[in-house]
Amino acid sequence: MDPLNLQEYEAVAREVLRPMAFDYIAGGADDEATVTANREAFARRHLRYRTLVDVSERDLSTHLLGIDLPHPIILAPTAMHQLAHPEGEAETARGAAAAGALLTLSTISTVSLEDVAAAAPDAPRWFQLYCYGDRSFTELLVKRAYESGYQAIVVTVDVPVLGRRERDLRNSFALPDGMRLANFEQPVPRPEGGSALVQWTTAIQTPALTWEDLGWIRSLAPLPTLIKGIVRADDALRAVEAGIDGIWVSNHGGRQLDGAIPSLDALPEIVDAVGEQCAIIVDGGVRRGTDVLKALALGADGVAIGRPQLYALAVAGADGVRRVVELLRDELSLAMALAGCPSLAEVERDLVR
Ligand SMILES: Cc1cc2nc3c(=O)[nH]c(=O)nc-3n(C[C@H](O)[C@H](O)[C@H](O)COP(=O)(O)O)c2cc1C
Repeated sequence: MDPLNLQEYEAVAREVLRPMAFDYIAGGADDEATVTANREAFARRHLRYRTLVDVSERDLSTHLLGIDLPHPIILAPTAMHQLAHPEGEAETARGAAAAGALLTLSTISTVSLEDVAAAAPDAPRWFQLYCYGDRSFTELLVKRAYESGYQAIVVTVDVPVLGRRERDLRNSFALPDGMRLANFEQPVPRPEGGSALVQWTTAIQTPALTWEDLGWIRSLAPLPTLIKGIVRADDALRAVEAGIDGIWVSNHGGRQLDGAIPSLDALPEIVDAVGEQCAIIVDGGVRRGTDVLKALALGADGVAIGRPQLYALAVAGADGVRRVVELLRDELSLAMALAGCPSLAEVERDLVR
């Protein structure tokens, strides 16, 4: 039976994924309170729909940092897609391209950034950057992304150190044989116990990144730069003052600081502070077209999904990825019709309470 919605993809994925991989994808930090809170933030808000509007045609198209898109649904950067499918991120890229979704590739992908670009050469793509203690390596990553046609750099700033993900500790999470982080030369160590990801992050990622480093990161390529992992207006303002082109409101899907504010709750203050000056993306718990509508109404320009793309990839490869984006897009179109919004321009804050 074909999954009818994003939650059903999760249920099927749980059956087909190895438990260690499912736990890695589904899990969050500590008590996973923020994972739950991200969803609840959508449920708490209700739609004040308009009536007697001609909605016989709906226009979902939008424009983000120089890219024309048929809809505002984005694939958030998620690590290690070969845990879900042997072709990994190349397969995801084919699915994203088929559905017209902007793909954000993680630094810690299991297919190299060049091979992902080659899998869907004409499709829009951004590159997510983790900053490493070895500055020259960080510079090389950005240079490679630029040369491979990635159209923006998304700097993730909510991982100075890795959150404590107890499912991974319990499972002694390690990369299965034959799988590697393809943008790196060095292999990920196999831990005796604990999570391989904790050891890897501690060994090479820098916890010392600060506002002073943003200028350096921006100088690495002539591309727009976004900052991912912001949940406060003052941080957003500071980023924009530093010349950042986009704020990605996110708490990393509840995988970092447990107890963090749900990203949807953080969105309005950030939109009020910098919404006119830069692009705003939000992610965390988006599972329905009505969730996308609520996020857009609160001022997001683009809305991203993390876990659902991996569940879909595990269930049906590129077709699955295409299908989850199309489901979400069609749900958004339906919600716009029912809410009296023929285009995204009518999706304004007074739609939500
Ligand atoms: C399995 C997994 C891996 C992730 N890897 C990354 C990553 O490499 N870089 C990053 O910036 N965010 C990463 N994230 C966070 C996502 O980009 C996104 O913020 C989050 O998944 C959104 O929440 P959702 O899963 O509820 O949609 C990851 C999330 C998951 C679930």
